[in-house]
Amino acid sequence: MNLIDLTLLFVVILAVLSIVWSTLKTGISPMMSSSKARDAILDELELEKEGAVIDLGSGWGTLVIPLAKKYPNKQIVGYELSLLPWSVSVILKHSLGLDNLTIHRKDFINADFDTASNLVCYLFPGAMIALQDKLEKEVVNEVTIVSNTFALPSYKPTKVTKISDFYRSPIYVYHWPQK
Ligand SMILES: C[S@@+](CC[C@H](N)C(=O)[O-])C[C@H]1O[C@@H](n2cnc3c(N)ncnc32)[C@H](O)[C@@H]1O
Repeated sequence: MNLIDLTLLFVVILAVLSIVWSTLKTGISPMMSSSKARDAILDELELEKEGAVIDLGSGWGTLVIPLAKKYPNKQIVGYELSLLPWSVSVILKHSLGLDNLTIHRKDFINADFDTASNLVCYLFPGAMIALQDKLEKEVVNEVTIVSNTFALPSYKPTKVTKISDFYRSPIYVYHWPQK
């Protein structure tokens, strides 16, 4: 093995360790929404409403990059804790010149949703409980919430669509605040 091979191996090991570490820390891997899920999520967003679209755990940018490209006049925001996916999405943002996209390396629980009109997420049950708690305590503005696979535990969705993938994954839509 020469020096280049060793360096590459070291970089791959570091990348794997970084993903394993952040998966253990956040509770979910940076798995991307499938293309069918992504299309279904984008269909449910209410983009005619004024305000930002925020992805709560934006991963590699699977949702925020196409959204920012398609809607250059819309403010698109991502929150992502995992270093590698966040770095890749920031590189993509800059190389595509997406000035309407901001990607924070920050826990979405500490984010301000005041300017949001749409929230999207693909998380896990524990994070949906934390999100519900945050909505109840802090969010008074009207937001449409579109969640891949996982529901808010105590609220009835306005709509549930089962996408035609292997898992028949549900896409939940909520209109917050619930009356
Ligand atoms: C399953 S991925 C979804 C990625 C992308 N939204 C999509 O649908 O393709 C979930 C992401 O949420 C991130 N995440 C989990 N909890 C988070 C938190 N509290 N704040 C910010 N990011 C979080 C994880 O690091 C992971 O990359």
